[in-house]
Amino acid sequence: MPLVPSYIETLAPYQAGRSAAEVCREYGLERAVKLGSNENPLGPSPHALRAISAALSTLGQYPSGGKELRTALAARFGVRPENVITGSGSEGILSNIIRTFLCDGDEVLTAEPTFIGFRVLAQSRGVTYRTVPLLNWRIDPLRLAGAVNERTKIIYLANPNSPTGTIFTRTEFEAFHSRIPERVLIILDEAYYEYVSHRAEYPDSLFYRHDNVITLRTFSKAYGLAGARIGYGFAHETLISNLLKVKLPFEPSSLAEAAAIAALEDTGWLAATLDANAAGLALVTRELQSLGIHTLPSCANFIMTLWPDAQSAEGVVENLLQAGIIVRPLRAFGVPNGVRITIGTPDDNNQLISAMSRILQQESLLCS
Ligand SMILES: Cc1ncc(COP(=O)(O)O)c(C=O)c1O
Repeated sequence: MPLVPSYIETLAPYQAGRSAAEVCREYGLERAVKLGSNENPLGPSPHALRAISAALSTLGQYPSGGKELRTALAARFGVRPENVITGSGSEGILSNIIRTFLCDGDEVLTAEPTFIGFRVLAQSRGVTYRTVPLLNWRIDPLRLAGAVNERTKIIYLANPNSPTGTIFTRTEFEAFHSRIPERVLIILDEAYYEYVSHRAEYPDSLFYRHDNVITLRTFSKAYGLAGARIGYGFAHETLISNLLKVKLPFEPSSLAEAAAIAALEDTGWLAATLDANAAGLALVTRELQSLGIHTLPSCANFIMTLWPDAQSAEGVVENLLQAGIIVRPLRAFGVPNGVRITIGTPDDNNQLISAMSRILQQESLLCS
Protein backbone atom coordinates (compact mmCIF):
# COMPACT_ATOMS: atom_id res chain seq x y z
CA MET A 1 0.00 0.00 0.00
CA PRO A 2 1.35 3.47 -0.83
CA LEU A 3 2.58 5.34 2.22
CA VAL A 4 0.36 8.09 3.53
CA PRO A 5 2.10 11.05 5.24
CA SER A 6 1.65 10.98 9.02
CA TYR A 7 -0.34 14.25 8.98
CA ILE A 8 -2.95 12.53 6.77
CA GLU A 9 -2.95 9.31 8.79
CA THR A 10 -3.73 11.18 12.00
CA LEU A 11 -6.32 13.50 10.43
CA ALA A 12 -9.97 13.22 11.46
CA PRO A 13 -12.18 13.92 8.42
CA TYR A 14 -14.87 16.56 8.53
CA GLN A 15 -18.09 15.03 9.78
CA ALA A 16 -21.14 16.51 8.12
CA GLY A 17 -24.43 16.79 10.01
CA ARG A 18 -26.79 13.79 9.90
CA SER A 19 -29.42 13.67 7.16
CA ALA A 20 -33.16 13.50 7.83
CA ALA A 21 -33.41 10.15 6.00
CA GLU A 22 -30.64 8.65 8.15
CA VAL A 23 -32.31 9.79 11.39
CA CYS A 24 -35.76 8.55 10.27
CA ARG A 25 -34.27 5.10 9.59
CA GLU A 26 -32.33 4.97 12.83
CA TYR A 27 -35.15 6.20 15.11
CA GLY A 28 -38.07 4.66 13.23
CA LEU A 29 -39.59 8.07 12.46
CA GLU A 30 -41.73 9.13 9.52
CA ARG A 31 -40.39 12.64 9.39
CA ALA A 32 -37.39 14.45 10.77
CA VAL A 33 -36.56 18.16 10.74
CA LYS A 34 -32.97 19.00 9.89
CA LEU A 35 -31.70 21.93 11.93
CA GLY A 36 -28.10 20.79 11.99
CA SER A 37 -26.33 22.22 8.95
CA ASN A 38 -27.43 25.87 8.58
CA GLU A 39 -29.27 25.28 5.33
CA ASN A 40 -32.10 27.49 4.04
CA PRO A 41 -35.35 25.85 5.24
CA LEU A 42 -37.18 27.37 2.23
CA GLY A 43 -34.76 25.66 -0.15
CA PRO A 44 -33.65 27.21 -3.44
CA SER A 45 -35.53 29.81 -5.45
CA PRO A 46 -37.99 28.22 -7.95
CA HIS A 47 -36.17 30.33 -10.55
CA ALA A 48 -32.95 28.43 -9.76
CA LEU A 49 -34.75 25.09 -10.05
CA ARG A 50 -36.09 26.06 -13.47
CA ALA A 51 -32.58 27.10 -14.54
CA ILE A 52 -31.26 23.68 -13.50
CA SER A 53 -33.98 21.96 -15.57
CA ALA A 54 -33.14 24.13 -18.57
CA ALA A 55 -29.41 23.42 -18.19
CA LEU A 56 -29.98 19.64 -18.22
CA SER A 57 -29.90 19.66 -22.02
CA THR A 58 -26.28 20.94 -21.93
CA LEU A 59 -24.99 18.11 -19.74
CA GLY A 60 -23.21 16.49 -22.68
CA GLN A 61 -20.78 19.40 -22.84
CA TYR A 62 -18.07 20.59 -20.46
CA PRO A 63 -18.97 23.68 -18.41
CA SER A 64 -17.41 27.13 -18.87
CA GLY A 65 -15.39 27.01 -15.65
CA GLY A 66 -17.55 29.66 -14.00
CA LYS A 67 -17.12 32.41 -16.63
CA GLU A 68 -20.77 33.48 -16.80
CA LEU A 69 -21.24 33.42 -13.07
CA ARG A 70 -18.08 35.46 -12.53
CA THR A 71 -19.48 38.07 -14.90
CA ALA A 72 -22.85 38.07 -13.13
CA LEU A 73 -21.24 38.38 -9.69
CA ALA A 74 -18.93 41.17 -10.89
CA ALA A 75 -21.94 43.13 -12.17
CA ARG A 76 -23.90 42.55 -8.96
CA PHE A 77 -21.10 43.56 -6.59
CA GLY A 78 -19.46 46.32 -8.66
CA VAL A 79 -16.11 44.63 -9.28
CA ARG A 80 -14.41 43.23 -12.42
CA PRO A 81 -14.70 39.55 -13.41
CA GLU A 82 -10.91 39.30 -12.89
CA ASN A 83 -11.55 39.91 -9.20
CA VAL A 84 -14.00 37.01 -8.89
CA ILE A 85 -13.49 33.27 -8.49
CA THR A 86 -16.12 30.53 -8.27
CA GLY A 87 -15.83 26.97 -7.03
CA SER A 88 -17.49 23.90 -5.55
CA GLY A 89 -18.82 25.67 -2.50
CA SER A 90 -16.77 28.24 -0.62
CA GLU A 91 -14.98 25.22 0.83
CA GLY A 92 -13.86 24.25 -2.67
CA ILE A 93 -12.25 27.67 -3.03
CA LEU A 94 -10.76 27.38 0.47
CA SER A 95 -9.14 24.15 -0.67
CA ASN A 96 -7.67 25.90 -3.70
CA ILE A 97 -6.32 28.71 -1.53
CA ILE A 98 -4.55 26.15 0.67
CA ARG A 99 -3.04 24.45 -2.39
CA THR A 100 -2.00 27.74 -3.98
CA PHE A 101 -0.42 29.61 -1.12
CA LEU A 102 0.97 27.18 1.45
CA CYS A 103 4.47 25.73 1.41
CA ASP A 104 6.05 23.25 3.82
CA GLY A 105 6.93 25.01 7.06
CA ASP A 106 4.18 27.64 6.80
CA GLU A 107 1.67 28.23 9.57
CA VAL A 108 -1.98 29.16 9.47
CA LEU A 109 -3.76 31.01 12.22
CA THR A 110 -7.40 31.21 13.21
CA ALA A 111 -9.75 31.51 16.16
CA GLU A 112 -11.19 28.60 18.11
CA PRO A 113 -13.93 27.49 17.85
CA THR A 114 -14.55 28.21 14.19
CA PHE A 115 -15.57 26.41 10.99
CA ILE A 116 -13.91 22.97 11.11
CA GLY A 117 -13.48 22.74 7.33
CA PHE A 118 -10.53 25.12 7.50
CA ARG A 119 -8.69 22.99 10.04
CA VAL A 120 -9.22 19.81 8.04
CA LEU A 121 -7.93 21.44 4.84
CA ALA A 122 -4.91 23.06 6.51
CA GLN A 123 -3.94 19.88 8.33
CA SER A 124 -4.31 17.80 5.16
CA ARG A 125 -1.61 20.07 3.67
CA GLY A 126 0.66 19.22 6.62
CA VAL A 127 1.16 22.82 7.81
CA THR A 128 1.02 24.00 11.41
CA TYR A 129 -2.48 24.99 12.47
CA ARG A 130 -2.50 27.51 15.33
CA THR A 131 -5.52 28.92 17.10
CA VAL A 132 -6.35 31.74 19.47
CA PRO A 133 -9.34 31.42 21.82
CA LEU A 134 -12.45 33.56 21.41
CA LEU A 135 -13.13 36.35 23.88
CA ASN A 136 -16.67 36.16 25.32
CA TRP A 137 -17.62 33.89 22.40
CA ARG A 138 -16.52 36.47 19.82
CA ILE A 139 -13.48 36.40 17.55
CA ASP A 140 -11.05 39.01 18.85
CA PRO A 141 -9.10 40.09 15.75
CA LEU A 142 -6.50 41.97 17.81
CA ARG A 143 -5.61 38.79 19.70
CA LEU A 144 -5.03 37.13 16.34
CA ALA A 145 -2.88 40.03 15.18
CA GLY A 146 -0.78 39.58 18.31
CA ALA A 147 -0.25 35.89 17.50
CA VAL A 148 1.24 36.42 14.01
CA ASN A 149 4.83 35.28 13.63
CA GLU A 150 7.30 35.15 10.73
CA ARG A 151 5.94 31.77 9.58
CA THR A 152 2.27 32.84 9.52
CA LYS A 153 1.05 32.73 5.94
CA ILE A 154 -2.74 32.71 6.26
CA ILE A 155 -5.21 34.06 8.82
CA TYR A 156 -8.73 32.65 8.52
CA LEU A 157 -11.63 34.65 9.99
CA ALA A 158 -15.25 33.60 9.66
CA ASN A 159 -17.57 36.59 10.08
CA PRO A 160 -20.22 35.73 11.26
CA ASN A 161 -18.38 32.89 12.93
CA SER A 162 -19.74 29.36 13.13
CA PRO A 163 -20.73 27.81 15.50
CA THR A 164 -21.19 30.98 17.57
CA GLY A 165 -23.09 33.23 15.11
CA THR A 166 -21.24 36.24 16.52
CA ILE A 167 -19.42 38.93 14.52
CA PHE A 168 -16.44 41.22 14.91
CA THR A 169 -17.01 44.87 14.03
CA ARG A 170 -15.62 47.34 11.48
CA THR A 171 -13.54 49.07 14.14
CA GLU A 172 -12.09 45.75 15.26
CA PHE A 173 -11.33 44.67 11.70
CA GLU A 174 -9.66 47.98 10.82
CA ALA A 175 -7.42 47.89 13.91
CA PHE A 176 -6.54 44.27 13.10
CA HIS A 177 -5.76 44.86 9.43
CA SER A 178 -3.40 47.73 10.13
CA ARG A 179 -1.28 45.36 12.25
CA ILE A 180 -1.03 42.51 9.72
CA PRO A 181 1.98 42.37 7.38
CA GLU A 182 1.16 42.55 3.63
CA ARG A 183 2.75 39.09 3.09
CA VAL A 184 -0.01 37.45 5.19
CA LEU A 185 -3.16 36.40 3.35
CA ILE A 186 -6.36 37.12 5.27
CA ILE A 187 -9.32 34.91 4.38
CA LEU A 188 -12.60 36.52 5.35
CA ASP A 189 -15.18 33.76 5.23
CA GLU A 190 -18.52 35.50 4.81
CA ALA A 191 -20.68 32.40 4.33
CA TYR A 192 -23.49 34.10 6.31
CA TYR A 193 -22.96 37.57 4.81
CA GLU A 194 -26.54 38.05 3.58
CA TYR A 195 -27.97 37.66 7.08
CA VAL A 196 -25.85 40.45 8.54
CA SER A 197 -24.89 42.84 5.72
CA HIS A 198 -27.56 45.37 6.76
CA ARG A 199 -25.85 46.06 10.08
CA ALA A 200 -23.80 49.25 10.18
CA GLU A 201 -21.11 47.72 12.41
CA TYR A 202 -20.53 44.75 10.08
CA PRO A 203 -17.25 45.00 8.14
CA ASP A 204 -18.31 44.02 4.61
CA SER A 205 -14.90 43.02 3.24
CA LEU A 206 -15.73 44.30 -0.26
CA PHE A 207 -15.84 47.81 1.13
CA TYR A 208 -12.12 47.68 1.96
CA ARG A 209 -10.52 46.21 -1.21
CA HIS A 210 -7.29 45.30 0.55
CA ASP A 211 -4.75 43.45 -1.62
CA ASN A 212 -4.03 40.77 1.00
CA VAL A 213 -7.68 39.90 1.72
CA ILE A 214 -9.78 37.28 -0.03
CA THR A 215 -13.52 37.24 0.58
CA LEU A 216 -15.37 33.93 0.47
CA ARG A 217 -19.14 33.69 0.07
CA THR A 218 -21.54 30.94 -0.82
CA PHE A 219 -24.83 29.98 -2.43
CA SER A 220 -25.20 27.20 0.18
CA LYS A 221 -26.82 29.26 2.93
CA ALA A 222 -29.16 32.19 2.12
CA TYR A 223 -29.58 31.04 -1.51
CA GLY A 224 -30.56 27.51 -0.47
CA LEU A 225 -28.21 25.72 -2.88
CA ALA A 226 -26.05 23.68 -0.49
CA GLY A 227 -26.50 20.52 -2.55
CA ALA A 228 -25.37 22.20 -5.78
CA ARG A 229 -21.92 23.02 -4.31
CA ILE A 230 -21.37 26.54 -5.50
CA GLY A 231 -19.45 29.35 -3.82
CA TYR A 232 -17.52 32.44 -4.85
CA GLY A 233 -14.74 34.73 -3.77
CA PHE A 234 -13.44 38.27 -4.39
CA ALA A 235 -9.80 39.37 -4.32
CA HIS A 236 -7.07 41.30 -6.12
CA GLU A 237 -6.71 40.08 -9.72
CA THR A 238 -3.16 38.75 -9.14
CA LEU A 239 -4.39 36.63 -6.28
CA ILE A 240 -7.32 35.36 -8.34
CA SER A 241 -5.11 34.64 -11.36
CA ASN A 242 -2.92 32.40 -9.19
CA LEU A 243 -5.95 30.58 -7.82
CA LEU A 244 -7.17 30.02 -11.38
CA LYS A 245 -3.93 28.14 -12.16
CA VAL A 246 -4.73 25.62 -9.42
CA LYS A 247 -8.50 25.37 -9.65
CA LEU A 248 -9.98 22.37 -11.45
CA PRO A 249 -10.71 23.75 -14.94
CA PHE A 250 -14.33 22.60 -15.15
CA GLU A 251 -15.45 23.52 -11.66
CA PRO A 252 -18.25 24.55 -11.02
CA SER A 253 -20.61 22.18 -12.80
CA SER A 254 -22.93 23.68 -15.43
CA LEU A 255 -26.00 22.90 -13.30
CA ALA A 256 -24.53 24.65 -10.27
CA GLU A 257 -23.52 27.67 -12.34
CA ALA A 258 -26.96 28.00 -13.97
CA ALA A 259 -28.67 27.67 -10.58
CA ALA A 260 -26.43 30.32 -9.01
CA ILE A 261 -26.98 32.86 -11.79
CA ALA A 262 -30.75 32.43 -11.52
CA ALA A 263 -30.65 32.53 -7.70
CA LEU A 264 -28.73 35.81 -7.85
CA GLU A 265 -31.46 37.32 -10.02
CA ASP A 266 -34.28 36.24 -7.69
CA THR A 267 -33.90 39.02 -5.16
CA GLY A 268 -37.47 38.42 -3.94
CA TRP A 269 -36.62 34.89 -2.79
CA LEU A 270 -33.56 36.14 -0.96
CA ALA A 271 -35.60 38.86 0.76
CA ALA A 272 -38.25 36.30 1.81
CA THR A 273 -35.50 34.05 3.17
CA LEU A 274 -33.97 36.87 5.20
CA ASP A 275 -37.36 38.01 6.56
CA ALA A 276 -38.31 34.47 7.57
CA ASN A 277 -34.93 33.97 9.23
CA ALA A 278 -35.12 37.25 11.15
CA ALA A 279 -38.58 36.38 12.50
CA GLY A 280 -37.55 32.78 13.30
CA LEU A 281 -34.31 33.81 14.98
CA ALA A 282 -36.12 36.33 17.19
CA LEU A 283 -38.77 33.75 18.15
CA VAL A 284 -36.37 30.88 18.83
CA THR A 285 -34.00 33.11 20.81
CA ARG A 286 -36.83 34.49 22.95
CA GLU A 287 -38.46 31.10 23.58
CA LEU A 288 -35.23 29.25 24.37
CA GLN A 289 -34.21 32.01 26.74
CA SER A 290 -37.58 31.89 28.45
CA LEU A 291 -36.97 28.19 29.05
CA GLY A 292 -33.79 29.19 30.87
CA ILE A 293 -31.40 28.09 28.09
CA HIS A 294 -28.17 30.03 27.61
CA THR A 295 -28.09 31.32 24.01
CA LEU A 296 -25.51 33.47 22.21
CA PRO A 297 -26.75 36.53 20.27
CA SER A 298 -26.67 35.40 16.64
CA CYS A 299 -26.18 37.40 13.43
CA ALA A 300 -26.73 34.38 11.17
CA ASN A 301 -29.30 31.63 10.47
CA PHE A 302 -28.49 29.55 13.53
CA ILE A 303 -28.14 29.94 17.24
CA MET A 304 -25.61 28.45 19.63
CA THR A 305 -26.84 27.19 22.98
CA LEU A 306 -24.66 26.41 25.99
CA TRP A 307 -25.43 23.75 28.59
CA PRO A 308 -24.02 23.16 32.08
CA ASP A 309 -21.82 20.29 30.86
CA ALA A 310 -21.13 17.93 27.97
CA GLN A 311 -23.52 15.32 29.34
CA SER A 312 -26.50 17.67 29.32
CA ALA A 313 -25.64 18.90 25.81
CA GLU A 314 -25.49 15.29 24.61
CA GLY A 315 -28.77 14.59 26.41
CA VAL A 316 -30.49 17.46 24.60
CA VAL A 317 -29.18 16.33 21.20
CA GLU A 318 -30.32 12.74 21.81
CA ASN A 319 -33.76 13.73 23.14
CA LEU A 320 -34.31 16.06 20.19
CA LEU A 321 -33.30 13.27 17.78
CA GLN A 322 -35.91 11.01 19.35
CA ALA A 323 -38.43 13.81 18.73
CA GLY A 324 -37.31 13.93 15.07
CA ILE A 325 -35.23 17.12 15.32
CA ILE A 326 -31.61 17.10 14.17
CA VAL A 327 -29.31 19.70 15.74
CA ARG A 328 -25.53 19.98 15.81
CA PRO A 329 -23.54 18.85 18.87
CA LEU A 330 -20.38 20.94 19.17
CA ARG A 331 -17.86 18.50 20.65
CA ALA A 332 -15.99 18.35 17.33
CA PHE A 333 -15.74 22.16 17.41
CA GLY A 334 -14.11 21.97 20.84
CA VAL A 335 -17.29 23.03 22.72
CA PRO A 336 -18.53 19.78 24.30
CA ASN A 337 -21.29 21.62 26.22
CA GLY A 338 -22.54 23.45 23.12
CA VAL A 339 -25.37 22.70 20.69
CA ARG A 340 -25.96 24.65 17.48
CA ILE A 341 -29.49 24.96 16.11
CA THR A 342 -30.42 26.18 12.62
CA ILE A 343 -33.47 28.43 12.26
CA GLY A 344 -36.14 26.52 10.33
CA THR A 345 -39.57 27.21 8.88
CA PRO A 346 -42.21 28.54 11.32
CA ASP A 347 -43.42 24.93 11.75
CA ASP A 348 -39.89 23.62 12.38
CA ASN A 349 -39.25 26.37 14.92
CA ASN A 350 -42.48 25.70 16.79
CA GLN A 351 -41.74 21.98 16.79
CA LEU A 352 -38.29 22.67 18.20
CA ILE A 353 -39.62 24.96 20.94
CA SER A 354 -42.32 22.49 22.04
CA ALA A 355 -39.89 19.56 21.99
CA MET A 356 -37.33 21.54 23.99
CA SER A 357 -39.93 22.57 26.54
CA ARG A 358 -41.12 18.95 26.89
CA ILE A 359 -37.57 17.62 27.23
CA LEU A 360 -36.67 20.17 29.90
CA GLN A 361 -39.76 19.24 31.91
CA GLN A 362 -38.83 15.54 31.79
CA GLU A 363 -35.06 15.72 32.18
CA SER A 364 -32.98 17.83 34.53
CA LEU A 365 -30.58 19.06 31.84
CA LEU A 366 -30.26 22.64 33.01
CA CYS A 367 -28.80 21.86 36.44
CA SER A 368 -25.28 20.50 36.52
C1 LIG B 1 -18.34 29.56 8.21
C2 LIG B 1 -18.58 28.58 7.10
N1 LIG B 1 -17.83 28.64 6.00
C3 LIG B 1 -18.00 27.80 4.98
C4 LIG B 1 -18.97 26.83 5.02
C5 LIG B 1 -19.10 25.88 3.86
O1 LIG B 1 -19.84 26.46 2.86
P1 LIG B 1 -19.94 25.83 1.40
O2 LIG B 1 -21.17 25.00 1.37
O3 LIG B 1 -20.02 27.03 0.52
O4 LIG B 1 -18.69 25.04 1.12
C6 LIG B 1 -19.78 26.71 6.14
C7 LIG B 1 -20.80 25.65 6.20
O5 LIG B 1 -21.39 25.32 7.16
C8 LIG B 1 -19.58 27.61 7.20
O6 LIG B 1 -20.33 27.53 8.32
